[in-house]
Amino acid sequence: MSAKKSRIIVLGNEKGGTGKSTIAMHLLVAMLRQGLRVGSIDLDARQATLSRYIENRRKRDPEGGRLGHSDHRAVPPSADPEQDADAFHAHLAELSGRCDAVIIDTPGSDHPLSRLGHSFADVLVTPLNDSFIDLDLLASVDGDSLKIVKPGPYAEMVWDTRKARAMRGEAASFEWFVLRNRLSTLDARNKREMERLLDALSKRIGFRMLDGLNERVIYRELFLQGLTLLDLGGEEQGLAMTLSHVAARQELRTLIDAMGLIAIS
Ligand SMILES: Nc1ncnc2c1ncn2[C@@H]1O[C@H](COP(=O)(O)OP(=O)(O)OP(=O)(O)O)[C@@H](O)[C@H]1O
Ligand SMILES: [Mg+2]
Repeated sequence: MSAKKSRIIVLGNEKGGTGKSTIAMHLLVAMLRQGLRVGSIDLDARQATLSRYIENRRKRDPEGGRLGHSDHRAVPPSADPEQDADAFHAHLAELSGRCDAVIIDTPGSDHPLSRLGHSFADVLVTPLNDSFIDLDLLASVDGDSLKIVKPGPYAEMVWDTRKARAMRGEAASFEWFVLRNRLSTLDARNKREMERLLDALSKRIGFRMLDGLNERVIYRELFLQGLTLLDLGGEEQGLAMTLSHVAARQELRTLIDAMGLIAIS
């Protein structure tokens, strides 16, 4: 692979439905709005949530003059894993040569393409729902003592990608952020336990925990329009900002600032 120029941001979690594609799209739009050149690769091209989101955005503004678009690629899984890997390498080489950042969305399952994508992350972002079921992929927790017994399969997979990097002669280091998504104002006890366990786990397996995103309709209701709450106001006059949107915007700003990616204005 040629020398990397762009920051590669991977959204990953072996657990499905945790918000990877949603957060990928919000990060992507945040970066576009900063005037960055953004590439995106959908490695979950069977489900194709990110690709469909981007397609909807293109339908709304084909030239991208108003909304901005990423240079988007999808790698649909074929019967030949090597061919898929070659396609991914080719897209990544091309995009990282011409973009400031490349966002890679991965499937919610263990898959060779997903592992490959993970192994190129400069920044890995792992959203998880505030549930012990989701936590189980990161760590086994003893039900009586609520102590961490051992790292879970996803944490091991992330650890394993270091080998792939080493084989390519690259530094093993990357930043790993974990954030809780779809947080509710209820479940105060569950929330506290999750926070405590994630805090302990972060030290053990080496990720940084970020403030999460609350459960908000605005994160899901603009999919068909290809928009995010970051696009609201300004030119998208038809969609007025509400107080909840302002709070969501603040949440995203905090998240992105903490990741040190960009500052959203
Ligand atoms: N903060 C949020 N508030 C409300 N709804 C959300 C939020 N985050 C995600 N969702 C919704 O949760 C569902 C799962 O989100 P998404 O598809 O982004 O997850 P995913 O991790 O990409 O899933 P998969 O593993 O299947 O690819 C979707 O219906 C999405 O609209
Ligand atoms: Mg997805």
